[in-house]
Amino acid sequence: MTNEIKDKNEQSPIIDASTGGPLSKSRRRFLAHSGMYTAGLVGSALLGACSDDKNVALAQDDNDNMNGGIDPNNPDIVDLRGAPSDAAVLQFALNLEYLEAEYYLRAVTGSGLVDDDINGGPEDPGMVTGGRMVDFSGEPLIGRYAAEIASDELDHVQFLRRGLGDGVISRPQINFTDAFNAAAQAAGLSSFDPFASPINFLIGAFVFEDVGVSAYKGGAQFIRNRDFLTAAAGILSVEGYHAGLVRTVLTARMDEAVGDTGLNIGQIVNAISDARDNLDGPEDIDQGIGNGNTTVSIYNTSYQSTNIVPVDDDGITYSRTPGQVHNIAYLTPEVAQMGGFFPQGTRIPANPALSTSSDASDSDDADDASAESGM
Ligand SMILES: [Fe+2]
Ligand SMILES: [Fe+2]
Repeated sequence: MTNEIKDKNEQSPIIDASTGGPLSKSRRRFLAHSGMYTAGLVGSALLGACSDDKNVALAQDDNDNMNGGIDPNNPDIVDLRGAPSDAAVLQFALNLEYLEAEYYLRAVTGSGLVDDDINGGPEDPGMVTGGRMVDFSGEPLIGRYAAEIASDELDHVQFLRRGLGDGVISRPQINFTDAFNAAAQAAGLSSFDPFASPINFLIGAFVFEDVGVSAYKGGAQFIRNRDFLTAAAGILSVEGYHAGLVRTVLTARMDEAVGDTGLNIGQIVNAISDARDNLDGPEDIDQGIGNGNTTVSIYNTSYQSTNIVPVDDDGITYSRTPGQVHNIAYLTPEVAQMGGFFPQGTRIPANPALSTSSDASDSDDADDASAESGM
C-alpha cells in the first residue's frame, strides 16, 4: 500500500488475533508497546473507529468478545450477533486475493507471490499447481491490462496481510490446472488452459472477477469497523473495474473463435456464467456478457445494448454469501470443505465454518439466467 496511510505512532493491527474482533484502543496500545505484533500495519486511516461506533453494536459472537449490547429501541443499531467477525471476513477475502494474485502474477511474470507474501499463521503455505507466463507478444494491450491487474492483486494481498496482523493466514493450496479443466467441463468444454493465449487468459480472469465483486458485496454487511468497511468498498470497486475491463474486451471480441473448441468467445463466457449460476444455488445472481440480441428498456423503449455490468433491477451488483462463493471456488453445488481451486479448502481460522460451501444442489436457475440476458 501507499505510504500515506501509515502512521508511525500507531504500529499495531486493528484486529485482535486472539478474539477475531477489533482491538480496543487500550489493548492496541498495550500490544504495540509489548512488541507482541511484528507484522506490518494498516495505519491511522484504518485505526480506531470501531470502539466509538454508535451505529453498530459489537455483539458477542463466536469470535468477538467486545459485547456492546443490542438496544432494541434504537433503529440504527445493526444486530451482528452470530455474524462472522471482521478477522474472519478479512481472512476469507485474503484467500480469494491469494487466488487472484497467483493467477495474474504467474501469467505476467512467470512466478507467483514471494515467500514474505505467503507465510504466516500456524500452517505452512500450500503449493500452487499450474500457472505460467502467458505470451502476450501478439496482444500487447492485453499484456498491459494483465500487468496492471496483477499489481492490484498483489497490493490486495499485502494490504489484507498487514491489516490482519497476527491473524494473518498463509496461502492455501491452489490448483489452477485441475480446477480450470473442471470448470471447463461444467461449461461444456473438455478442457481449458487459461495460460495458452491472451484471450484464454481473459476468459480465466472472467471466472474470478465477477465472483470477487459479489464476494466483497456479500461480506460487507458483516464488517463492523467502518474503516475496514471503507477499505473493503475500495477493494470491491477495484474488482468491479477489473471485471468491467475483462467483460468489455470479451464483449468486443465475442464472435472470435477460441482455439479448436469450435465455440466463440461469447459462447464460452456465457456458458461459464451459466455454470456459475448452477453452482451457487437457486438465486439468479450471475449474468453473461449478452449477445447480439441483448437489449435494455429505457422508458418503455427497447435499445440494443451490451451486458458489461451484471446488475439487478435497481442497477446494483449482486451479493454472494461466503458459502456461495465457496460453491464456485470449490466447483460444487453441494456442501464441501475443499475442492476446485482450493484442494485443501480455504483457510479461515477465525471462523472455520466459513470455509464451507452452501447446499445449492437444487439449483435450476441457469435457464433463467440465459433467458434474462437474451442468450
Ligand atoms: Fe483483488
Ligand atoms: Fe481483481
